[in-house]
Amino acid sequence: MHIHKIFYIEVFAFSILISVQQHYVSAFTTADQIISNGYPVETYEVETKDHYMVGLERIPYSKNAVNKTSGKPIILLHGLYGTSMYYTLNNISLSFILSDAGFDVWLLNFRLAGISKYIKNPRTGLVTPLRNISWDFSFDELGIYDTTAGIDFIINKTGYFKIHMGGYSFGATICLIALAERPEYNEKIDKLVLIVPTARMKYYDRRLIILKIFPYLFHRPLRGRGYVPKMKHPDDQWLGRQCKEKKYMKLLCLYVMTQVQGNLLPINYNTIEILRTYPQPTSVKVMTHYYQLILQNYFRKYDYGKIGNIKHYNSTSPPDYDLSKVIAPTYVYQSKHDIIAPPKDVKWLVDRLPNIKNITMVKKFSHMGFAISPYAKPINLLIVKHLLENSN
Ligand SMILES: *[C@@H]1O[C@H](CO)[C@@H](O)[C@H](O)[C@H]1NC(C)=O
Ligand SMILES: *[C@@H]1O[C@H](CO)[C@@H](O)[C@H](O)[C@H]1NC(C)=O
Ligand SMILES: *[C@@H]1O[C@H](CO)[C@@H](O)[C@H](O)[C@H]1NC(C)=O
Ligand SMILES: *[C@@H]1O[C@H](CO)[C@@H](O)[C@H](O)[C@H]1NC(C)=O
Ligand SMILES: *[C@@H]1O[C@H](CO)[C@@H](O)[C@H](O)[C@H]1NC(C)=O
Ligand SMILES: *[C@@H]1O[C@H](CO)[C@@H](O)[C@H](O)[C@H]1NC(C)=O
Repeated sequence: MHIHKIFYIEVFAFSILISVQQHYVSAFTTADQIISNGYPVETYEVETKDHYMVGLERIPYSKNAVNKTSGKPIILLHGLYGTSMYYTLNNISLSFILSDAGFDVWLLNFRLAGISKYIKNPRTGLVTPLRNISWDFSFDELGIYDTTAGIDFIINKTGYFKIHMGGYSFGATICLIALAERPEYNEKIDKLVLIVPTARMKYYDRRLIILKIFPYLFHRPLRGRGYVPKMKHPDDQWLGRQCKEKKYMKLLCLYVMTQVQGNLLPINYNTIEILRTYPQPTSVKVMTHYYQLILQNYFRKYDYGKIGNIKHYNSTSPPDYDLSKVIAPTYVYQSKHDIIAPPKDVKWLVDRLPNIKNITMVKKFSHMGFAISPYAKPINLLIVKHLLENSN
């Protein structure tokens, strides 16, 4: 039987990573990536309104900058189970292309992803262990609290009234939720860049039967645990290190990346280090919400079941996110061979977004092409070109 690829890789990744105890080397961070590419980096910590701490990396200006002054800020949101490192994997990554074009690049890490998990609690002065954290959050909190906190912080810090915002995959989903649930933030966004955005996921490549048992296989045993995957050192994982250090691992690593990107398309091997920080811990609720969307035909808030929904939403089913409120000028980039955000679902989304400025279809990419493809540079340059068009 043909097993669904993504399902397969997740089962593989989680079962291995939950069980394997990893030896600690050190955290491998986005800042390390930025520095090793020769760019300046600053990091910031921001407290959200619901008292989580989120970390931002900033590339204030390019290593090639003459004047060391920062241009217009852009905040970038990362994908599911990932960190901001998606944007800094190699020297043609979007962060560096944006920085070279004069932008002030800010990378947000959602709560408990990347550096966000090491921030000291401002009240106790200690880093809260993962097991002590409340994992009762889903997509909404990442959009309503983490994203808006990042935007406000950048605006306050830089003095710009409007900034650009971009998201990749699930990061794009969270951009949409932030602007739909807090529509006043549209005024703070000059341009919205959605890279392979996921919203409704009807055509997400799936083998329904197998996927439908996913919650029974994984969520029941995980219920009450709060977060997945449980591992000691999510920021320096065994597989990613082997991929980088051991030449004989190359074929296996390429195979894993092929699974993660969903397709056999060429990849830049120097982006393989993303596997050192993937997957990151996230709440079981986020994961469940994601699977609720895959298995249904809508883009809605978390489904608590009939009784829970009445309590939370005063209705037996969860409300849809109101995409008509996302009025910031929107640029969409999609990949022809994407099995996670396939063109049919992206079309569903753009049909509902009120202010689409450009839609770009990339033929040679699958889901992760924008970060790991050897052909990423021209597309990242196109994003820059669009951001520079009649900007205000
Ligand atoms: C650098 O700053 C100087 C003086 O402010 C200005 O004349 C020059 O155009 C700037 N160069 C660039 C590349 O921005
Ligand atoms: C970017 O990295 C690649 C591979 O590591 C290298 O061959 C290339 O020279 C680098 N380009 C620049 C501009 O540094
Ligand atoms: C974590 O939780 C345990 C048990 O609830 C508590 O004893 C401990 O002080 C907590 N640690 C921190 C750093 O909050
Ligand atoms: C804005 O920044 C100033 C100092 O730079 C700080 O005192 C103030 O609390 C900040 N405001 C917000 C809303 O973050
Ligand atoms: C709940 O919904 C009902 C009907 O949909 C409405 O009449 C009622 O005012 C709502 N209650 C609250 C607290 O919003
Ligand atoms: C999108 O932008 C590209 C490059 O600037 C341009 O060639 C294309 O015509 C635009 N597409 C639409 C639908 O505006």
